[in-house]
Amino acid sequence: MNLFDVYPLFDINPVKAQGSWLWCDKGEKYLDLYGGHAVISIGHSHPQYVNALTKQLSNIGFYSNSVQNKLQEELAEKLGVISGYTDYNLFLCNSGAEANENALKIASFVTGRRKIIAFHKAFHGRTSGAVAATDNPKIVAPFNAEHNITFVPLNDEKAFDQAMDESVAAVIIEGIQGVGGIQLPTSSFLQFIEKKCKQHNAMLILDEIQSGYGRTGKFFAHQVANIRPHLITTAKGMGNGFPIGSVLIHPDIKPWSGMLGTTFGGNYLACTAAIAVLDVIEKEKLMDNASTVGSYLLEKLGQINGLFDIRGKGLMIGIDLPDDKKTVRTNLLKTHKIFTGEAKPNTIRLLPSLTLTKTEADIFLQALEIEVA
Ligand SMILES: Cc1ncc(COP(=O)(O)O)c(C=O)c1O
Repeated sequence: MNLFDVYPLFDINPVKAQGSWLWCDKGEKYLDLYGGHAVISIGHSHPQYVNALTKQLSNIGFYSNSVQNKLQEELAEKLGVISGYTDYNLFLCNSGAEANENALKIASFVTGRRKIIAFHKAFHGRTSGAVAATDNPKIVAPFNAEHNITFVPLNDEKAFDQAMDESVAAVIIEGIQGVGGIQLPTSSFLQFIEKKCKQHNAMLILDEIQSGYGRTGKFFAHQVANIRPHLITTAKGMGNGFPIGSVLIHPDIKPWSGMLGTTFGGNYLACTAAIAVLDVIEKEKLMDNASTVGSYLLEKLGQINGLFDIRGKGLMIGIDLPDDKKTVRTNLLKTHKIFTGEAKPNTIRLLPSLTLTKTEADIFLQALEIEVA
């Protein structure tokens, strides 16, 4: 059997990883500034994470959500404290798309409404409602397109106001748009949409799947705007590679038995991974590191000639390159052995582990300077 061929692949076969570094089967070493798409939060193969998972696997790996699971409670408690959302409730699932699908569903259940407002360049995943709320017609099948979604430009209060009405179940917005090329909502725009959601009894969903988990220096990117969304979705960095996602749910939203459900969500291994991630983020002060090394990168990038625009916060950075520099990302990988992400049309996306050091950042800065010269 062949693999269903949906991914354009680099000809690299990683066999080992440690911190911000990967080694391929040919023994070559790569600096990882992509984190497997913002997933590696505490660094590859962190010893505390490896030990916790190994130990848990030898005790019990899986049972269903029909029995007590103290690890889920421990995770909810720790996530509440570190994020500042101690009074919210937690629903655990397996991926980002699933987290958004559940958040959209909760909003629709609670309001009894169908319409969703999303934003130009948004990416929310590939399941039914999540992909419908994603601004990319190429990945929306006719089956998904039946949802009632209105897209408005980011940071455009007037357009948002025109789209908002009493039929809106939810507004879904990324803390910082990732796939869209690191586009930041302004704090005043976030405050505006929060106010409008309250006025129209609609729910505000903050998709923090890429921008959350300490990446921007705050636990969630939206916290810079002092807003409190009804629903917050997480995944990616939450398990440092072990699949896990979640929805943080405002205490006013009441569950009923059977409202949501999942077979694998919140299993022992996923919870163990997620607890280890939070413990390491706290112990190693990784949010502070993301903020410090992120600011350092932004400052140094600003001194490099030949870059169009540089945007971002903490360790979520977008670098726009001129049209005649289409090969920079490939050259960084092939010549300098540095993994980065991309966004269309010609943006480099940095989504490294929150453990990235200034010395590692310098390796990238020197390589980039050579490539854009
Ligand atoms: C902001 C955002 N939301 C949702 C998703 C979907 O997450 P997953 O691929 O885990 O379903 C992604 C993935 O890139 C994302 O960046």
